[in-house]
Amino acid sequence: MTEQRYVETGVESLDSILDGGVLEGSSVLLTGNPGTGKTVLAMQFLYHGVEECDEGGVYLTFEESGEDLAQAAERLGFTRWREHVENGDIAVYDKMDLLDEHDFAATLTSILDEVSGGDYSRLVMDSLTMFEMFFETEQERRRYLLKTVEILKEKGFTSYLVHESAEVFPDRDIGLEEFLTDGNFYLGQAPTKSGSNRYIWVPKMRKQAIDTHIFPMEIGEGGITVHESAAGFLQMDDRGGL
Ligand SMILES: Nc1ncnc2c1ncn2[C@@H]1O[C@H](COP(=O)(O)OP(=O)(O)OP(=O)(O)O)[C@@H](O)[C@H]1O
Ligand SMILES: [Mg+2]
Repeated sequence: MTEQRYVETGVESLDSILDGGVLEGSSVLLTGNPGTGKTVLAMQFLYHGVEECDEGGVYLTFEESGEDLAQAAERLGFTRWREHVENGDIAVYDKMDLLDEHDFAATLTSILDEVSGGDYSRLVMDSLTMFEMFFETEQERRRYLLKTVEILKEKGFTSYLVHESAEVFPDRDIGLEEFLTDGNFYLGQAPTKSGSNRYIWVPKMRKQAIDTHIFPMEIGEGGITVHESAAGFLQMDDRGGL
């Protein structure tokens, strides 16, 4: 058996929680309420890939335009995001591109064909929830979901599938998405007197020895920072979060 490689997430402590990163070719479901940092974590995954690992990335988004993403990236200190998009190291497809043709599933398939086979190894879908809205019946939705996860695997992408959750963590609904993907990251926010505390939880990552504790995180210059120390977590508790 060939040894599988770990793909760095761009967040040092998260790599260590994952025992090295995400196994190459895995699909990760990124779940969280609005504003919990899903898009930031996904951009950071692609930016780090290009900047530090020489790995191209694809960002498929219905949530924001390519320009919105570029502005958000710059504000986070991902200063060369725009340059990477311009020179093709990061391929961004926004809703204008995705809604180009009438048949959405066919458009998606042709985009995935276009980006596979060489230059790109990381892929983000932001969000799966929006993509799923294109299917009228539950059966169609499930079939599409299964097919998409299969195609991503077949083409060798290490992927993040963003999934909006209306549930307040940790009372969560386990859906097909959780079972189909190789791993799940949950992002959350807990209100405190002074604002809110952010946290991340990795409940599942197939074939990997993970740390399943809940860890505090922050969003700021440089993107997301996860605090691995238990002390950081206790402090969060003392302030009334969680
Ligand atoms: N440069 C920054 N500095 C500090 N915090 C930031 C910065 N950029 C974004 N944030 C924080 O990150 C949050 C947004 O994160 P993000 O867009 O990744 O959320 P999301 O989970 O994708 O939300 P949605 O479900 O609405 O798409 C903002 O609400 C803001 O608090
Ligand atoms: Mg988002």
